[in-house]
Amino acid sequence: MNTNVSEKDLSSIMVIFGGTGDLTHRKLMPAFYNLVHDNLLPKHFAIVCVGRREKSSEEYRREVLDSLKRFSRNKIEDQKWKRLEQVVFYENFDFTGLEGYHRLKKRLNELDDIFGTKGNRAYYLAVAPEYFETIVQRLDESGLARSVGSWNRLVIEKPFGKDLATARSLNESLLKVYREDEIFRIDHYLGKDMIQNIMVLRFSNFMFEQLWNSKYIDNIQISLLEKEGVGSRGGYYENSGAIRDMLQSHILQILSLVAMEPPVDLTTDAIRNEKLKVIRAIEEFTPEFLRKNVVLGQYGAGYIDGRPVPAYRDEERVAKDSMTETFVALKLHINNFRWAGTPFYIRTGKSLAKSSAEIVIQMKSLPNILYFRERYTQIPNLLVIRIQPNVGVSLRFNTKDFKSHNNIVQQNMDFSHENSSQGNTPEAYERLILDVLRGDSTLFSRWDEVEASWKIADRIIEYRERNSFDFPNYNAGTTGPVKAFELLARDGREWWSL
Ligand SMILES: NC(=O)c1ccc[n+]([C@@H]2O[C@H](COP(=O)([O-])OP(=O)(O)OC[C@H]3O[C@@H](n4cnc5c(N)ncnc54)[C@H](OP(=O)(O)O)[C@@H]3O)[C@@H](O)[C@H]2O)c1
Repeated sequence: MNTNVSEKDLSSIMVIFGGTGDLTHRKLMPAFYNLVHDNLLPKHFAIVCVGRREKSSEEYRREVLDSLKRFSRNKIEDQKWKRLEQVVFYENFDFTGLEGYHRLKKRLNELDDIFGTKGNRAYYLAVAPEYFETIVQRLDESGLARSVGSWNRLVIEKPFGKDLATARSLNESLLKVYREDEIFRIDHYLGKDMIQNIMVLRFSNFMFEQLWNSKYIDNIQISLLEKEGVGSRGGYYENSGAIRDMLQSHILQILSLVAMEPPVDLTTDAIRNEKLKVIRAIEEFTPEFLRKNVVLGQYGAGYIDGRPVPAYRDEERVAKDSMTETFVALKLHINNFRWAGTPFYIRTGKSLAKSSAEIVIQMKSLPNILYFRERYTQIPNLLVIRIQPNVGVSLRFNTKDFKSHNNIVQQNMDFSHENSSQGNTPEAYERLILDVLRGDSTLFSRWDEVEASWKIADRIIEYRERNSFDFPNYNAGTTGPVKAFELLARDGREWWSL
């Protein structure tokens, strides 16, 4: 990660559009509180939240406090809340019209004088993506997008477009107002500790990096599984599905970190350049390839933790004949010297038996001689990187069974972050907000990465749209469609865990 930015002046105002929304209350405000808690909030700083609902800053702060009590990872302490409370302000206006932006401009200038924030601005668009262009245009028209201080940045939440064409068009609009290095595209998975740890594990451990190639690795599995169904987000999900929601962004980002070459140094562009090469090296998805190697699924009714769960088609704001996929599994190859011959298996889905996000590196097997000639079945070594829950790393190996004296058993060497001395894990948004203020975009997606990922995702979306599938094809609370297991069984392999 970029280390030469820590001394930069973080004095600034962050303006959050969508201040009354779910993302702000559940993630952003708790992140600010925890930054205060850990003494990381900049000394000269203010937060202005914009929403449509009428309320005073006092009322807004009370609501924020309620949300903090529900969602913060640290307990709310009076003194720390007071530090945050005094820098939070609320402005209500309709962000589609220009008038409110002029008022906002005046307000921000006043706050600069009070807080010493020097005209530096970060605009965080925690709103539905269809508003991104309008807000940026209004920021431009009102003069808010031009820096009165040393910097002016734009933060956008995914989804970034709904396919390559819409993403390109959105990007072109943003680039009329902001430079690429001023745009911070959040993929909150990249803010998770264990995702950042992938590079550390690989490039600071001789024993891992030396084995990190197709000569020693049999296959790599990336599974992002969710117990939750779509819940109240059916309207959004109908236009998205697992490919757009998870594969195009989080999964391809994780894949690129797992498979990248070592960067020449730890600067933002050196890392992003190597990640991009991985996505570009993914083998071409021909129709024949997709038919063989992609499994799509949609959940039917079932039980999760003993509670009945509706079928996807019976969720709120979901069409009764919806063909949106809530599950995707995929096998792919990365056509470069390091990975030729090693398959990557990917799966992600909703309403499954458990929630977990992990990467499993399966090492090649030994020849079936000595112990494995007749007596024992060989079980391969695994390195498991757990992103959530129970963040950690475990290494599975074979050892003598000291009880029976004549058996081989598998043992895990396990590092669990929760048991470590480093305290509870910071939430992704804490790290990402600080990085925006520092101007470090290493953990955000660069446009060419987004573009390359859409090229891949579009092929799978086209395949889904051109074919019919027998949905629903897995019950809520299960491990997903049977075909996802057949995908690996065909290669003589299996998904690990779940
Ligand atoms: N929720 C999450 O955990 C999450 C996670 C990852 C990404 N995201 C992304 O983050 C974005 C926001 O999601 P969300 O769940 O927070 O949405 P949300 O709860 O629906 O909030 C939308 C916000 O936009 C405001 N708004 C809408 N139209 C407005 C207008 N014309 N003028 C002024 N304000 C207006 C609303 O203000 P009023 O309510 O006052 O009208 C509200 O504050 C989406 O792009 C979503 O995909 C969300």
